Amino acid sequence: MGYSIAIDGPAGAGKSTIAKKIAKEKHCIYVDTGAMYRAMGLYFLRNGISAGDEKRISEKCGEADITIAHADGEQTVFLNGENVNAFLRTEEVGNMTSAISVYPAVRKKLVELQQRLAEQADVVMDGRDIGTCVLPGADVKVYLTAGSAVRAKRRFEELAAKGEVCDLGQIEKDIIERDERDMNREISPLRQADDAVLVDSSGMTVDEVVEKILSLCREKEQGGI
Ligand code: DC
Repeated sequence: MGYSIAIDGPAGAGKSTIAKKIAKEKHCIYVDTGAMYRAMGLYFLRNGISAGDEKRISEKCGEADITIAHADGEQTVFLNGENVNAFLRTEEVGNMTSAISVYPAVRKKLVELQQRLAEQADVVMDGRDIGTCVLPGADVKVYLTAGSAVRAKRRFEELAAKGEVCDLGQIEKDIIERDERDMNREISPLRQADDAVLVDSSGMTVDEVVEKILSLCREKEQGGI
């Protein structure tokens, strides 16, 4: 097992922005586990399988071959050999993904892939269940959150910058709904691990959050936490 930093938290908390910067500073690979679940969600959307059909989803998830590659700090996700990065970050895929990520068959497959990656390299991994389930022995664990209005505004700006037409109120509604589902599902719900440090980024800049996490890493290295 290599060195690992686990960053969990709700949608739009800034996990990927922060995790990428930490990975660069710490010379680790950044592993975006949400993108793996999204690739799975995309597969079911494309195949017209409804999010509520657990039986078909459990049967079919073996047919979605998900692999990832890393270059220049960016993760590329391949779905049955196709680079699907450009299709993953839409609200449609996000909502489908939250719905199918409640199923044990989906989670088992992706957790195994994530654990294999962490065995092969030093990683900063972000998601919902990294500190609690995927890497319970992670060297540093952070639970990164922010108020839902702040998170909705960030996601709105991210989507608007890409030219996607979106509605701020609808995004906040989706975020609250997704939080509900991610926090209340039966297996590996989103929650702060007992040994994770809570960081609320609501009033913080990206650089302040990065510095806070790097200082936690330094404390840990000096045997502080
Ligand atoms: O972080 P994200 O918005 O890309 O994640 C999309 C969905 O994937 C999220 O709503 C829940 C699911 N997910 C999960 O269940 N476990 C993870 N480790 C990462 C994401």
